[in-house]
Amino acid sequence: MATANPSQGELATRASIAKPSQEVASAAPAAPAVTVPAPTRREFLYYIWGASLALLLGQATAGLIWFIFPRFREGEFGGVFPFNPADLPEVGAQPTSVPSGRFHVSNTAEGVLALYGVCTHLGCLPKWVATNDRFECPCHGSKFTGDGSWIEGPAPRGLDRFNIELVYADGTRTQSDGSGSPIPIAADKTLVEIRVNTGKRSLGPGHGVRLGPQRT
Ligand code: FES
Repeated sequence: MATANPSQGELATRASIAKPSQEVASAAPAAPAVTVPAPTRREFLYYIWGASLALLLGQATAGLIWFIFPRFREGEFGGVFPFNPADLPEVGAQPTSVPSGRFHVSNTAEGVLALYGVCTHLGCLPKWVATNDRFECPCHGSKFTGDGSWIEGPAPRGLDRFNIELVYADGTRTQSDGSGSPIPIAADKTLVEIRVNTGKRSLGPGHGVRLGPQRT
């Protein structure tokens, strides 16, 4: 006949039967600890070398992309400069200088053109000499007309030209053809802006080539 109150021995027996998984788990062998070996000196140097090479390649790639697709803000040398037609000189008068863009805007009988203000000899900056009505280089004496044509001196050609675009009030535009030739202003339209692209340069005319009127 079963007793109403189990003895302590019976309780201990029941507890051991109720928790078999705990006993199994505690009886399982412990997993071996995984140890990561420290890199050797040679491996460490390989890692440093690899990281340096990756960094170098990244920089070279970024530089190549920037070189192929340069980005210049408007008004920054290498980009486009808006030029106000109100600043355009009279035909044949002293070209208007834009020092921040390193160019002069010249108005000739053939049209408008933008001259790169750097001498084609060794890179000095020719100045406009009003008394002689021409550019004269202070370094070795090369001389250029108001449209950039070579007159004399060691410069191998006339002043280089930047591509320009004439923008009219009706929205039409006329661009340089890439040869650096002057662009005539349409007489029946209102010119509202001249855009000088300092990122697109044409070589100046060779000796004896004059795009504009002969002025020496
Ligand atoms: S740099 Fe202009 S003449 Fe030499």
